[in-house]
Amino acid sequence: MSPHPVGQFPAYRPRRLRQSAALRRLVSENALSVSQLVLPLFVRPGRQVRKAIGAMPGVFQLSLDELLREAARAHGLGVPAVLLFGIPATKDAKASGAYARNGIVQQAVRLLKRELPDLLVITDVCLCEYMSHGHCGIVQVDQRGGKILNDPSLKLLARAAASHAEAGADIVAPSDMMDGRVRAIRAELDRTGFSDTPIMSYAAKFASGFYGPFREAAESTPQFGDRRSYQMNAANANEALREVALDIEEGADIVMVKPALAYLDILYRVKTDFGYPTAAYAVSAEYSMVKAAAANGWIDERAVTLESLLAMRRAGADILITYAACEVAQWLQEK
Ligand code: PBG
Repeated sequence: MSPHPVGQFPAYRPRRLRQSAALRRLVSENALSVSQLVLPLFVRPGRQVRKAIGAMPGVFQLSLDELLREAARAHGLGVPAVLLFGIPATKDAKASGAYARNGIVQQAVRLLKRELPDLLVITDVCLCEYMSHGHCGIVQVDQRGGKILNDPSLKLLARAAASHAEAGADIVAPSDMMDGRVRAIRAELDRTGFSDTPIMSYAAKFASGFYGPFREAAESTPQFGDRRSYQMNAANANEALREVALDIEEGADIVMVKPALAYLDILYRVKTDFGYPTAAYAVSAEYSMVKAAAANGWIDERAVTLESLLAMRRAGADILITYAACEVAQWLQEK
């Protein structure tokens, strides 16, 4: 029970403060604001390309021109930041496209920072979209398919992050889950003159079925095996706190929990234990499930989306990464 005195019925009637919208708002403990939202965007080569993602209605792979339009729309609605994922023209076994000076994400960052300088550009730092095998690190082939090598992957991740910073990224966000990558990235950023570029680490990232639709969106499905040798086991909460502690020690400025809705306990503990700026990533299937149920008329899309994001805020999230950022921004304006 609460250590504080609480009233008792009939002196205390909780319904007293629920009688009108204004009263309810006055005593509301948490709130959603457009300033908390981050919109993930997928950029691919080409011109005037808007390739729909089947499982994510309203989400597209966008060529640079279309990306700019979409980013401008988000910016116009007050969404402060986008999170960029790249789909390169070609993939190889050393993820060259991830750190190419003129890679697709690097081009996108330059364009967005030139045209919309006030829009924060966060870049996802990973290798899976650029690797022919779709894994987040370098693979050593063996009889079972392959082993994902940790330490050799760090150099590529650090190079990718520095190339994003060099293009003008405001924040880099490593999502690979290799051990030691935050330290490697921080060192490379500092060495190359980007000691002011913050790192938002996907600190507690779980191996999750909720990433299914994303892999279609980013064309990053592993060609063999799965990601369970590097992403976390869904059963583990204490380990998630150690992952977060490690990333903070290595230099993370913002820590992320991902997925969000099925991991609110982790979010709560991360915020409570560390008090760091904390992001929740409402991942692809969280979005797809709401869209699908709403399309069937089974749920109220707006109510369910806002309630889910509010739950993340209640659990401790400062930053909400969601594919519904533009819709949410519009709903918040209407409220
Ligand atoms: C890349 C990455 C993934 C997501 C974000 N960055 C996919 C994965 O780890 O398989 C998932 C995002 C989503 O589902 O919305 N490593």
